[in-house]
Amino acid sequence: MYFGSKYFVEDKRIKKLREQLKTKISSEDVQKIMKSYEQLGGIIIVSIPNEYEKFKEFIGNCFFESFECQTVLEKGFVSGEFRIPYYKRLVGDGFITIHKENGIYYKIDLSKVMFSSGNIAERIRMAHVSSPNEVIIDMFSGIGYFTLPLAKYGKAIVWSLEKNPNSYNLLLENINLNSLSGRVLPINIDCLDFNPNFKADRIIMGYFSDDEKFLLKALDMIKDGGVIHYHNTIAEKLEPHLKETIERVIAKKGKKLESIYYRKVKKYSPGVWHIVFDFKVI
Ligand SMILES: C[S@@+](CC[C@H](N)C(=O)[O-])C[C@H]1O[C@@H](n2cnc3c(N)ncnc32)[C@H](O)[C@@H]1O
Repeated sequence: MYFGSKYFVEDKRIKKLREQLKTKISSEDVQKIMKSYEQLGGIIIVSIPNEYEKFKEFIGNCFFESFECQTVLEKGFVSGEFRIPYYKRLVGDGFITIHKENGIYYKIDLSKVMFSSGNIAERIRMAHVSSPNEVIIDMFSGIGYFTLPLAKYGKAIVWSLEKNPNSYNLLLENINLNSLSGRVLPINIDCLDFNPNFKADRIIMGYFSDDEKFLLKALDMIKDGGVIHYHNTIAEKLEPHLKETIERVIAKKGKKLESIYYRKVKKYSPGVWHIVFDFKVI
């Protein structure tokens, strides 16, 4: 079993990989390929430029031998409501691994659920946003991307809602792996069907959707003065209007927002960003 991220991989592995790749691929493209890989536990995921289609197996083997990893996958796409990844196995065995990040263990099955390395800063930030015993609702918890740091480091009580049974089952395993069973309350449910008899101090909305029903649902579940962490994708040209778009939805519930924090998390596609906007509902 392999843990950790690429930043901790020994230099000699990187050196070996570069030398092997260079035997068939131009130095410029070797740089590109080496920049594009990510490591999740024992699995390496690599993006391969189209012109190297016929070298896929070679590239997979270079990573496999240099990193002595479990599996090398070719990066595909993530789609649908459940954000299911479509990755192709190049070499090795299995899509299941345990990834350790910021002291937290995430069991992942990359044939069934996604894990975005690019959201690492956001997962680390979530470890520090709450106060002990805050009551938080993670409306789209997945396998526990944000739930686990909130519960482990923030010592919050987290209601983790997840609709996809595959993600939910991994969430249950991750709660146990991280000994967080008292703090995380997982429910396999569509968050729209959750009707709590309490109001949350904080709500995490880690799912991309322009359908305002999710934000309206969050507003029904948040305390006055509570904080919403709102994620979405947005085209650069629409960015200046994001706040007013959200204000318009909030006004339907007779509420206002007070901005706390805004950040581009990562590039999503050309001209489109994954953003997070934290605001207080008043
Ligand atoms: C994009 S993933 C979360 C990604 C995560 N924030 C990260 O950092 O990688 C969103 C999750 O929301 C779940 N989901 C989608 N619609 C839902 C709904 N209506 N209720 C609950 N969970 C839902 C999906 O199954 C998926 O696991």
